[in-house]
Amino acid sequence: MSTTATLATLSDSNLAADPNWWRQASVYQIYPRSFSDSNGDGLGDIKGITAKVPYLKELGIDAVWLSPFYPSALADGGYDVDDYRDVDPKLGTLEDFAEMSAALHQAGIKLIADIVPNHSSDRHEWFKEALAAPKGSAARERYIFRDGLGKNGELPPSDWDSVFGGPAWERITEPDGTPGQWYLHIFAKEQPDLNWANREIRDDFLKTLRFWSDRGVDGFRVDVAHALTKDLTEPLLSKAELTEANTGTDGFPDGSHPFWDRDEVHEIYAEWREVFNEYNPPRTAVAEAWVHATRRARYASPQGLGQAFNFDLLQADFDAEEFQEIITRNLAEAKATGASSTWVFSNHDVVRHATRYGLPMGGGVHAKGQDGKGWLLAGAPAEELDTELGLRRARAASLLMLALPGSAYLYQGEELGLQEVGEIPDAERQDPAFFRNKGVEIGRDGCRVPLPWATEGASFGFGAGDAHLPQPEWFSRYAVDAQDGVEGSTLELYRKALKLRRELQTAEELEWVETGNSQVLQFSRHGGWQSVTNFGAEPVELPAGEVLLSSGPLAAGKLPGNTTAWLR
Ligand code: GLC
Repeated sequence: MSTTATLATLSDSNLAADPNWWRQASVYQIYPRSFSDSNGDGLGDIKGITAKVPYLKELGIDAVWLSPFYPSALADGGYDVDDYRDVDPKLGTLEDFAEMSAALHQAGIKLIADIVPNHSSDRHEWFKEALAAPKGSAARERYIFRDGLGKNGELPPSDWDSVFGGPAWERITEPDGTPGQWYLHIFAKEQPDLNWANREIRDDFLKTLRFWSDRGVDGFRVDVAHALTKDLTEPLLSKAELTEANTGTDGFPDGSHPFWDRDEVHEIYAEWREVFNEYNPPRTAVAEAWVHATRRARYASPQGLGQAFNFDLLQADFDAEEFQEIITRNLAEAKATGASSTWVFSNHDVVRHATRYGLPMGGGVHAKGQDGKGWLLAGAPAEELDTELGLRRARAASLLMLALPGSAYLYQGEELGLQEVGEIPDAERQDPAFFRNKGVEIGRDGCRVPLPWATEGASFGFGAGDAHLPQPEWFSRYAVDAQDGVEGSTLELYRKALKLRRELQTAEELEWVETGNSQVLQFSRHGGWQSVTNFGAEPVELPAGEVLLSSGPLAAGKLPGNTTAWLR
């Protein structure tokens, strides 16, 4: 790790050229369809993002991560890509993209694009060709086709379930109209898995990486990075054999799972790294890899993607001991591998943390695999929800996170303290996880409802028309214009925290301070910056020093329960 670069604080001027800009960056995830709608069609778009660049600049983030914006039928919110090298016409054009990228860079903000290599959509040219071509053809070799079992191939090649529920194989109709082969889809049936053993697929993705890197993309978030390579040598293991050791998407600890986290996947990322290094500064990447903690480092290696998400805090309770263990372990791991740590509480796949923390601890998040349904998190049962407590804890947790070394990944709306939307009528839900699980799994729409920008008016200022997912009345309270300039609002808390973080953030070093109270976590950073969090309910004495910021009002000079303060 280069100490000179990482010890430098991240001011606008050195951010652009610094090859290490990502190490301590705060990255804001935009889910484009739900961020800002410039043309009133109910879907957020690229021009909408460009219009909000001043907002993003004022927020004080270092980078934007854009969830998929590619042409898509939205069978899985855009993670079903029709064409990897274009912009969805519903969202804009390549010119709009160039304008957005220029506006972000002008504001000193880097741009990270989501890339979805495990599967294309079933509308991709490749898949159409595969359906039109005969069995055994080169076109079929781009995907994973198999003959079915049973007398007439009427049974799927294995009994595997897809991550979204239902079978992981879909039967096609051959060009001559007869029932035919089956293709593998680990996710929805509109997301056929690509065959990464095929050199053509590998080369085409290298082309895609260059395509976006040439258009101002500074880094990539790699969707299900641990799924690409597969060993489907027959006989295929049964579902029971696969799930015995693992009910989620972690794979097997020795890398022998047929599709999750196989060692060969790193050969792909070594090639990607060569492409990233063609650029100056090199393009960065972060892996979405829900793998065993012991195997995460390989995705984050400098010869590979460079960084990998750690979802440990996201899956933890609001609990001092758990937080401390996770932070200590992840910092040690980052130090050992030369990557930087990543922290995240919310994203487009999970219940927002302001809501999770308002649910009974241990029950709010259904732990990965607990019910055999994989990594999706359950919806919030309204009766048990204390939104005020949830928000209080979320603010405390976020302030703690922003004092940690490493990259902090924020999800649009968390800076408003936004809650998960539970009250979406079944008929308006969009998530395939909801439909494929026949409503047992509530799905992820509740964290994807378009943002409220204004307390009043059409779609709370999201756009001129109705939003594509219904926004509840209570969204008004969380609107940007209700919080802008309001002392103590969540938005102002994030703005102040992000600004201070930019001034104070340094390399991967943290020292725990013994507090003598198991409910209170305190650590110090370079330059005397201290963060202290009271996970308990009773107020506690504050350590000595100047209070720079606190996640909630202090109580007669004390730090109240569920609150974080920064001091120096
Ligand atoms: C990732 C995405 C999720 C998507 C899935 C399939 O986990 O974060 O939203 O549904 O991959 O692409």
